[in-house]
Amino acid sequence: MSALRPVVLLAGRVHPRVRERAEVEFDAISIDAADAGLLNDETRSRIRGIAAATAISADFIDSLPNLEVIANFGVGYDSVDAAHAATRKVMVTNTPDVLSDEVADTTVGLLLNTLRELPKAEAYLRAGRWAAEGAYPLTSLTLRGRTIGIFGLGRIGLAIARRLEAFGLPIHYHTRTERSDVAYPWHASLIELASVVDTLIVIVPGGAATEKAVNSDILGALGPQGVLISVGRGSTIDEPALIAALADRTIAAAGLDVFAHEPNVPQALMDLPNVCLLPHVASASVSTRNGMADLVVDNLGAWLAGRPALTPVPECTGFDRSGT
Ligand code: DGY
Repeated sequence: MSALRPVVLLAGRVHPRVRERAEVEFDAISIDAADAGLLNDETRSRIRGIAAATAISADFIDSLPNLEVIANFGVGYDSVDAAHAATRKVMVTNTPDVLSDEVADTTVGLLLNTLRELPKAEAYLRAGRWAAEGAYPLTSLTLRGRTIGIFGLGRIGLAIARRLEAFGLPIHYHTRTERSDVAYPWHASLIELASVVDTLIVIVPGGAATEKAVNSDILGALGPQGVLISVGRGSTIDEPALIAALADRTIAAAGLDVFAHEPNVPQALMDLPNVCLLPHVASASVSTRNGMADLVVDNLGAWLAGRPALTPVPECTGFDRSGT
């Protein structure tokens, strides 16, 4: 019976629910890294799908002659060479929508923690300092009176905007193309956005188009009351420039959930007092990650059964099967 099931590669540290379901629904093979050298020719020729929790390069794609689909765990799929996959008509899927609200909620929490120093205030209480020394110092930063700039107004960016609108804050944004369905002021460039707001939330995809887009010029434009919140990909921020801007108070503070070289975070960043740092947890609740896991397996199942992909990435929509 198992010979009839499509062979799917579980690449990297896949979510347990992806593994559990894949082992039931497919003939699953696991490897720690997407390295063709870890598989023999016969195995490589049997693989029709990949559940990806690690980088998938063009070379790796080319090493699998019968590959049909790569289902990425995460909405961000910058670690999968989707452009190359598309040239081979290999479908690539990601996990949009199911995580938007969770990531937006976490972003608001990170913003408040950065401004109002809530993690530090809790540490102060737990250390017995409230009783011993008195009230925690007043925070110099507040959300009140801020103007929000969102770099990337996709599904998650919009969910963040809606939340902060409810906090009574003006919202501006920068995307390559102006959206026709929102009334928020659009700015044609990131530097223009940074110069009219004091709170910049970065939620663009990673990859070459956004590599180090937030550099010293952008941070300078944000200014001394400026706060940077980064929840997309660490590659979008010029990390050394950010560290310098935080150290010399070019900007006031930053809240970061993503880093250039995860899970490694520069010591210089950790040593700064005006940062709030999270270990890439924006979507990391059990229910949201289960939703992402189900979407990975459902995409594999659909495509391998000859049905349309549920959530194809834009590079692959051109050859998706008709849903009708
Ligand atoms: C995503 O979905 O891209 C998040 O960053 C979680 O990995």
